[in-house]
Amino acid sequence: MVVLPLTTLALALLSSAFGQSDLFGDDKLDKIVPWDSLTGPVNPPHSQWPAGDGLSYSDLKDILSTTPNPDKAKEWSQFYTAGPHLAGQNLSQAVWTRDRWEEFGVKSEVVPYEVYINYPLDHRLALLKDGEVSFEATLEEDVLEEDPTSGLKDRVPTFHGYSASGNVTAQYVYCNFGTYTDFENLVAAGIELKGKIALVRYGSVFRGLKVKRAQELGMVGTIIYSDPGDDGLVTEVNGYKPYPEGPARNPSSVQRGSVQYLSQFPGDPTTPGYASKPGVPRKPANASTPSIPSLPISYAEAIPLLQALNGHGPNASSFPARWHKGGLEHKNVSYNIGPSPPSVTINLMNLQNYTITPIWNTIGIINGSLSDEVIVLGNHRDAWIAGGAGDPNSGSAALNEVIRSFGVALSKGWKPQRTIVFASWDGEEYGLVGSTEWVEDYLPWLKDSAVAYLNVDVGTRGTRFNANAAPLLNQAIYEVTKSIKSPNQTVEGSTVYDLWDKHIGTMGSGSDFTAFQDFAGIPSADFGFGKTGPLDPIYHYHSNYDSYAWMVKYGDPTFQYHVTAAKVWSLLAASLSEKAVVPFNATDYASSLERYLDSVKHMANSSGMSYRDKEEQDVSMFVDLDLAIEYLQRTAHSFDAHAAGLAAQATVAEGKHNPAATNRLFAEIRAVNTQYKMLERAFLFPKGLDGRSWFKHVVFAPGKWTGYAGDTYPGLVEAIQAGDKKALYRWAGIIEGVVWRAAGVIS
Ligand SMILES: *[C@@H]1O[C@H](CO)[C@@H](O)[C@H](O)[C@H]1NC(C)=O
Ligand SMILES: *[C@@H]1O[C@H](CO)[C@@H](O)[C@H](O)[C@H]1NC(C)=O
Ligand SMILES: *[C@@H]1O[C@H](CO)[C@@H](O)[C@H](O)[C@H]1NC(C)=O
Ligand SMILES: *[C@@H]1O[C@H](CO)[C@@H](O)[C@H](O)[C@H]1NC(C)=O
Ligand SMILES: *[C@@H]1O[C@H](CO)[C@@H](O)[C@H](O)[C@H]1NC(C)=O
Ligand SMILES: *[C@@H]1O[C@H](CO)[C@@H](O)[C@H](O)[C@H]1NC(C)=O
Ligand SMILES: *[C@@H]1O[C@H](CO)[C@@H](O)[C@H](O)[C@H]1NC(C)=O
Ligand SMILES: *[C@@H]1O[C@H](CO)[C@@H](O)[C@H](O)[C@H]1NC(C)=O
Ligand SMILES: *[C@@H]1O[C@H](CO)[C@@H](O)[C@H](O)[C@H]1NC(C)=O
Ligand SMILES: *[C@@H]1O[C@H](CO)[C@@H](O)[C@H](O)[C@H]1NC(C)=O
Ligand SMILES: [Zn+2]
Repeated sequence: MVVLPLTTLALALLSSAFGQSDLFGDDKLDKIVPWDSLTGPVNPPHSQWPAGDGLSYSDLKDILSTTPNPDKAKEWSQFYTAGPHLAGQNLSQAVWTRDRWEEFGVKSEVVPYEVYINYPLDHRLALLKDGEVSFEATLEEDVLEEDPTSGLKDRVPTFHGYSASGNVTAQYVYCNFGTYTDFENLVAAGIELKGKIALVRYGSVFRGLKVKRAQELGMVGTIIYSDPGDDGLVTEVNGYKPYPEGPARNPSSVQRGSVQYLSQFPGDPTTPGYASKPGVPRKPANASTPSIPSLPISYAEAIPLLQALNGHGPNASSFPARWHKGGLEHKNVSYNIGPSPPSVTINLMNLQNYTITPIWNTIGIINGSLSDEVIVLGNHRDAWIAGGAGDPNSGSAALNEVIRSFGVALSKGWKPQRTIVFASWDGEEYGLVGSTEWVEDYLPWLKDSAVAYLNVDVGTRGTRFNANAAPLLNQAIYEVTKSIKSPNQTVEGSTVYDLWDKHIGTMGSGSDFTAFQDFAGIPSADFGFGKTGPLDPIYHYHSNYDSYAWMVKYGDPTFQYHVTAAKVWSLLAASLSEKAVVPFNATDYASSLERYLDSVKHMANSSGMSYRDKEEQDVSMFVDLDLAIEYLQRTAHSFDAHAAGLAAQATVAEGKHNPAATNRLFAEIRAVNTQYKMLERAFLFPKGLDGRSWFKHVVFAPGKWTGYAGDTYPGLVEAIQAGDKKALYRWAGIIEGVVWRAAGVIS
């Protein structure tokens, strides 16, 4: 049996959380329906429950599938990508977004937080030979006539979010992707790292973790460049012209980005676990940000640095597998590791203005009949550059179309069954700041009320649908994508589902779902149209060339994929908000848990920490966990069947007038929905993961040393990686307890 104890502390937190926004109303506390009250009769929320107020579900779906319009999406894309909108630097876009949403008929406001953040003041990168400058980097991307925002006077310099100020001159070492293993390989080969600058290429792991490891090994700076060898087939070597003439990478393009330690905790580095409001106490930022300077550079400007390593130290091909050479051999780069000789050094200077400044989320809300069941939709608005036509504003354009569509339904008298909240986040790029602070701010309410969070970051940069989600949402995603026509009608009648590989990835990190999924235990999804294959035009991620001009020429010239992303989003939201029984599937969760455990067992086995104890013969450290998961599977199966039965009864009840029967059915459905709602929350472990306690979910977290990619059962995975058998037993026990608790929620 699930209980929702509203402790005095929770109540205090709750009232302070609601004090500052009139969107949610002052009487919000009254709206929270504790579990116990669900056992008594509850009146159906709709006048014609379960048909819905004002519009039938099928009329709503018609509106959501026919309203989004490519010309509108194009107009929104053009607006957001017309000028700089770095976190905390463009209030007018937040206000404009609020004004549009209000025009569409959705009550909205700008919600600020005061966060610790950096803006670039100055930088320098020079190669010195015998003290003389032999190469001075411009640290600029080329201004292209064909791409107007690449030449704006106030364009954003190339820099790293949360990078440290510093001015170092030192020898340097080529460190491949700068993964944990790459650095281990360097140490094993006896390469001197202390006091040196790391020259690493982008890719494989989150950039902040490259800097973190370099710093831990005593290195004094990090330079990260984009190697065309990681661009697949569409490269200059293969005869493709670079952007803007052709689809290959422009050699001057630079990937900006955050070097926060994303897998440690996201959000404002000085307020872990609580909201960054004016006057709150702040902690030192060094727990999640580097203290050595770093800069991102283009491959054009990496070439002289790499060439100067030719002949010095071992070459990359003589190192283990992941050290394959990059794509610059035709430029006389032999990928030697170095270190550079003492006479060859780099001067790396990075000057950042660290400040505490407001950022602005725009939040819209449509009150549903059930105020304690809430669906949240979010996309970030801030970008590293003036453009951002892919990341994130293809998602922003789609979100505006989603809200405009719901607005049309509202104008026809529709009221959703569940409350729907829309968010345009600021500060995502620095470290998911706007969404993390908001979740931390509204945590008690969200933990009580949130049913699901649906994130779209890069809504469109190609034609292939991709999705990551909590397993509870898998079936809902399949069902909705089956109902939406793809813009690709090579085979007539193809739906989004038909042209998709049907793979739903696990939740890692790297976008705004992180605080919802990993901190608050709210089942989340993240989707969009992305890379199709090795012959795609190169997407200039976090570069000036992720622009409107690129989008119109290569990304989505007709804006049909923007529109399709909007439809997937709104129809998924509608399915979650309108169906009498929340369309979750607990069986999928349980079977995913089994699958994830299989992969952990293999990992334990192949790392020599066999899950069969030698002394104990048949006794495995996962035996009890296996049993718990089996039990959860059986429980989930019968719970889903019960839920499906109620859903069928709700359909039959539709249009019939039998208040007594309807009331009873409604009460039963409320109970089931509350159980579904609380299931994901059961996977939170209050003490959090070892050494990174902000992360509370025992099943999903970003990999400690990968950042973007998700680890499943991070406690187990880290114990195995550390060779710590005691920790492995401890985490198997913790997870087992959590799985029993989850089974209890749906028993
Ligand atoms: C939503 O409902 C709350 C509580 O009834 C109310 O105070 C608030 O004004 C409503 N918000 C909107 C946008 O209708
Ligand atoms: C804010 O964004 C708008 C719209 O993209 C743009 O026109 C404007 O230049 C930006 N303002 C600032 C201060 O960067
Ligand atoms: C950075 O260090 C170099 C070499 O030590 C020095 O010449 C230069 O003036 C310094 N730059 C700044 C901005 O401090
Ligand atoms: C952060 O800095 C403080 C004070 O300078 C120091 O005591 C602490 O150990 C540092 N923490 C980390 C994680 O580096
Ligand atoms: C290639 O680089 C090496 C080392 O920097 C240099 O000595 C040589 O002249 C270069 N060759 C060409 C063809 O540029
Ligand atoms: C790389 O190093 C290996 C081993 O020292 C050597 O056999 C190989 O020729 C080198 N390759 C290049 C391109 O220098
Ligand atoms: C740093 O930022 C603060 C706050 O935004 C601003 O007032 C100050 O002028 C900036 N400093 C410099 C040197 O630009
Ligand atoms: C369109 O769909 C077909 C399969 O029906 C596929 O082969 C083709 O690659 C798709 N085109 C694009 C641009 O995605
Ligand atoms: C564990 O490893 C051993 C030896 O490598 C292998 O024979 C066995 O099949 C593995 N077991 C599992 C479950 O992976
Ligand atoms: C749940 O998902 C499984 C497939 O994983 C499917 O067989 C089952 O019918 C689904 N149940 C419901 C109620 O959707
Ligand atoms: Zn993004």
